[in-house]
Amino acid sequence: MIKDRGTFGSKLGIILATAGSAIGLGNIWRFPFMTGHNGGAAFIIIYLVCVMMLGVPGMIAEFVVGRHSSSNAARAYSVIGNSKRWGLVGVLGILTSTIILGFYAVVAGWCVHYLFVSVSGQLAGTPEEVSHYFTTFSSSALQPALFGIVIILATHLVVVRGIRSGIERASKFLMPLLFLLLLVIVVASCLLPGAWRGVEFLLKPDFSKVTASVFLEALGQAFFSLSLGTACLCTFASYFGRTVNLGRSALQIALLDTLIAILAGLMIFPAAFSAGISPDAGPSLIFITLPNVFQQAFSAMPVVGYVISILFYALLSLAALTSTISMHEIGTAFFHEELHISRRGGAWILTAITSVICVLCSLSVGRPDIFGLFGMALLDFCDMLTAQYLLPVGSLLTCILVGWIAEHKTVRGEFTNGDTLPGRFFHLWLLCVKYICPACILLIFLHQLGVI
Ligand code: PHE
Repeated sequence: MIKDRGTFGSKLGIILATAGSAIGLGNIWRFPFMTGHNGGAAFIIIYLVCVMMLGVPGMIAEFVVGRHSSSNAARAYSVIGNSKRWGLVGVLGILTSTIILGFYAVVAGWCVHYLFVSVSGQLAGTPEEVSHYFTTFSSSALQPALFGIVIILATHLVVVRGIRSGIERASKFLMPLLFLLLLVIVVASCLLPGAWRGVEFLLKPDFSKVTASVFLEALGQAFFSLSLGTACLCTFASYFGRTVNLGRSALQIALLDTLIAILAGLMIFPAAFSAGISPDAGPSLIFITLPNVFQQAFSAMPVVGYVISILFYALLSLAALTSTISMHEIGTAFFHEELHISRRGGAWILTAITSVICVLCSLSVGRPDIFGLFGMALLDFCDMLTAQYLLPVGSLLTCILVGWIAEHKTVRGEFTNGDTLPGRFFHLWLLCVKYICPACILLIFLHQLGVI
């Protein structure tokens, strides 16, 4: 065990900080455009099944790995797997979260930019003008990349302050605020003329749109949103105290995360349908749809629309920040503990690597021909590679490790806090981790690859 590591100060702090990692652009930006792209309610049903059947058991498995050794991800995996080779799964998680941080910072930078233009009132205009504004901005060379780097530097500042005074304190304040604001915008959006068609889109399933790739996308979205398979949950759990109930915490975080995603859907789709914007507009959905909501919903009271728009992009940026902090922490803890350098030094290494990825991804939006891979802009490629492949693989290997390789006594001890908890669901959970999760992830993969 590594001495003098930080820990979280309270159980609420743990839930909010881990929920802060889970809740972010994945819920408010990615979930709505994935839902729009994959046919609405049918996708949501598959998503919910993925969260409950694969996500929650997978989260608990990562918690078990992290808290058992109270160290960075690479060491945690090798300790519980009793071999250095298992440490590679931790390294894979660290690599995945580094790539995610690189492209995530680009979108987070867009949010910060939108915060500034909300303040200066530049977001006003017809739906076409708002749409044109987004395309021009996101594909320009300099500004979006700079905003991305600002996000990474802000993340860096919080991470070097440590666990309790940096990460925990920020999350306790930011998460409740985000929730409140989301509720206000949902109400405003649902009151717009023609909004019911958006609500219907979210609630009435059309299974004719469901194909094998919808399953893979729902799986990827569930893992991305829960921060699963990146060693993020494992790293956070390494700061959990010994009395934290891992099962209950995972369930609470997954429920909060799902609630926020559904609320984000209820915020975007009624507004999109009301403004005549196609629900499958893709990643630009929140940058084009929402400015219209703010204008239309509050046309009688433009000042209120103005203030809400500022608050929204501020909170979106902050929600993104609580997630980028967690991704940054994974690599920082690794470099600090494994390379025996200061936390500050470790944080700088990660900041440098992710800044390069961020700039390349940002440039790829305007010039996918130069900064592209396999016919995709680098940003889309990194998103697809991590969400659809690296996260499920990371989670699959974690399940195999916890279900089959780790000592049963250790795993049970972590689940039940050394038999001080009843452990009623232990066998059900183990069944999921041993058989159901690996089988489902494999089936979805093999189907996607055309093997079955
Ligand atoms: N779960 C975060 C979100 O929904 C993204 C994330 C992925 C954070 C992986 C950490 C690790 O925005």
